[in-house]
Amino acid sequence: MLPITEKVYKLGIVDWDRTLFDAFVPTPQGTSYNSYLVKGKDKTVLIDTSEPKFKKEYLAQLKDVKTIDYIITNHAEQDHSGCLPFVLDKYPKAKIITNAKAKTFLLDLLHLDDDQFIVIQDGETFSIGDKTFEFIFAPWVHWPETMFTYLQEDKILFTCDLFGAHLATSSLFSDDKHSTYLAAKRYYSEIMMPFRKNIQKYIKKIDSMAVDYIAPSHGPVHNDPQFILNAYKKWTSDSPKNLVILPYISMHGSVRGMVNFLADELIKRKINIEIFNLEIKEIGDVATALVDAATIVVGSPTVYTNAHPVVVYYTYFFNMQRLKTKFFTSIGSYNWATQTPKTLNEIVQNSRFEILPDVHIKGILKKEDFDKLINLANIIEEKHKSLGLL
Ligand code: FEO
Repeated sequence: MLPITEKVYKLGIVDWDRTLFDAFVPTPQGTSYNSYLVKGKDKTVLIDTSEPKFKKEYLAQLKDVKTIDYIITNHAEQDHSGCLPFVLDKYPKAKIITNAKAKTFLLDLLHLDDDQFIVIQDGETFSIGDKTFEFIFAPWVHWPETMFTYLQEDKILFTCDLFGAHLATSSLFSDDKHSTYLAAKRYYSEIMMPFRKNIQKYIKKIDSMAVDYIAPSHGPVHNDPQFILNAYKKWTSDSPKNLVILPYISMHGSVRGMVNFLADELIKRKINIEIFNLEIKEIGDVATALVDAATIVVGSPTVYTNAHPVVVYYTYFFNMQRLKTKFFTSIGSYNWATQTPKTLNEIVQNSRFEILPDVHIKGILKKEDFDKLINLANIIEEKHKSLGLL
């Protein structure tokens, strides 16, 4: 247990070996499942628990804790709630403090009893004498039941998933700003980006509070809250950067040739690009670039009669992430079927992208195909100018 302030401790598991989250997000730097213990004069409160796979290691951290009176659950997902039944086995008189929606989720996801809960309302406070917990509902910063807990005396805001990072580290605090920034941006892009608009609202609320520490449930604790708040303000802003991302698959080289040619044309026009060969890159790298991209141009060969399945998967992910990106189109090569651009455009139809003219060519690049790509580069240049990015 590591002390954050007097009588407030971080515990939980640092998972150095975790390589995948939610069965699709790579975590090359591992992660942690943070839990926090608040020792009041008379009562002891646990805030969130840990990943159930680490039951033994987690309970070992509580071996010298005689009593836990309350367990505050900010979020019902099992990487934070999974050890709750084990903690209740050890401390059967403990009550779970959470909101009504989280209670229903916890009852659905874990074997718990209805009478083990104390249900609180948004803005309500709960005092254990010398420590006061204020509950701030923050629905849809990942799940609909998510909330923050603010420990008033210590000015610590416990935000569970929000402001976290999949970063295994022995450091209590995010003193290594560079590595934390990169891991937190990647985490934001993979997990939090769809909730960008809600996060903007919660940041405004946090700005109005006196917060000395932001304590998330993944990665290090932020002892300089402005560092992570300022980063989030940039990432969640409505303004994209002068950046085109070009994720592609190429089976025989035609699409790669198109991507490289278009990329060169964009660079000539002072537009920044990032190219992702989806055969070798992983989704976290692409997601991180998506935080800022004004335009996405996907490159897909036509396989049999339609888009390449890997490109379809990524395009589906782009649509899921509710991006600030403004423009979308596709380029590619086919032999006998022309369905690919229609399929890709349909996948992103909920994203409110402006769909730019696509360029799908028959076979390998010919003279007139280069002209079509030059035309697309000109259109993208005009669109970026229209946003004031150039
Ligand atoms: Fe880290 Fe939504 O769980």
